[in-house]
Amino acid sequence: MKAIDVRGLTKIYRSHVKQEGLFGSVKSLFNRQFKEHIAVNDVSFSIDEGELVGMLGSNGAGKTTTLKMLSGLLHPTSGTASVLGFAPWERKNEFKRQFSIIMGQRNQLWWDLPAADSFLLNKEIYQIPEAEFRKRRDDLAERLDVADKLHVQVRRLSLGERMKCELIGSLLHAPRVLFLDEPTIGLDVVAQQAVREFVREYNSGTSTTIILTSHYMDDIEELCKRVILIDDGKLVFDGSLARLIEQYIEDKILTVVFRSPVQRPDIERYGLVTEWTPERASLRISRNNIAEAAAAILNSFSIIDLTIEEVPIEYVIREIFSRAGKQDSQPLSPSKPV
Ligand SMILES: Nc1ncnc2c1ncn2[C@@H]1O[C@H](COP(=O)(O)OP(=O)(O)O)[C@@H](O)[C@H]1O
Ligand SMILES: [Mg+2]
Repeated sequence: MKAIDVRGLTKIYRSHVKQEGLFGSVKSLFNRQFKEHIAVNDVSFSIDEGELVGMLGSNGAGKTTTLKMLSGLLHPTSGTASVLGFAPWERKNEFKRQFSIIMGQRNQLWWDLPAADSFLLNKEIYQIPEAEFRKRRDDLAERLDVADKLHVQVRRLSLGERMKCELIGSLLHAPRVLFLDEPTIGLDVVAQQAVREFVREYNSGTSTTIILTSHYMDDIEELCKRVILIDDGKLVFDGSLARLIEQYIEDKILTVVFRSPVQRPDIERYGLVTEWTPERASLRISRNNIAEAAAAILNSFSIIDLTIEEVPIEYVIREIFSRAGKQDSQPLSPSKPV
């Protein structure tokens, strides 16, 4: 049995359109108008036990809505989902005891209490035996390096410390399925890295099935072998990052460092120049021609270095989303939200 199996999952939000002005308000009372928005559109995938899958998509793509349905927080409009054999929205206790969701933008710990007190509450809710509770709490706190923070009021913690405590709280009952919705959002680079490391180790040390959503490429690139790409509610890709690159990007990037200055027109005949100085140039060249082009360049110029790389994954994702009809003209930089 698959840990997670999703068939044709669809969520349509209906929201009330309010008409303007007093007259409009009165009119709306009698003649309600609704606007429909398809947030998740006929999505299907399945995930094996122990897999760590990244769900990627721009803002508003439908990631959170999908995870909410898989957590039983929302009813789908149509379609089915099975998580550990349960229909999540039936919210059986047996299901709740085996799963956890963390939302980066929402706190589950009590704001005015130290995390340790919230953990005690979880212990009761999930009926975790005392010895196991202590062991897991202490072990997780040590691995996340927050052992000395558990008795500090949550509101006084930094964002990163808070997220680490959220992680502990949601893992105390050793869920078999874990949903991490933007766990690194807003964190500083060091905390992001720590959370990432932890998730990686946790996933490899247990057979927990994890879905992670993020719009930081670094998270996905470092953690997930498999990615699911959601665009405007639809699943547009499901597979490995390597396959994603191969499937969508025909070019590779060739970078040359010249021994003596070179004119731009002399190099332009080999491919699409993306960066250029008289001493150094980068070109995009199709996979099929790159070996030939590299040989020709080696023959024609005196060079110090030549490298061939894949197009950075951020470009790849951006190209896919822009092909799907969305233009994003933000400049590129590492770990910039897609
Ligand atoms: N409660 C809601 N009512 C109406 N529309 C919503 C609601 N929640 C989300 N949406 C819309 O559904 C779409 C998907 O949202 P969401 O699942 O939060 O996307 P993501 O998590 O990928 O950013 C967005 O267009 C969003 O505006
Ligand atoms: Mg979201």
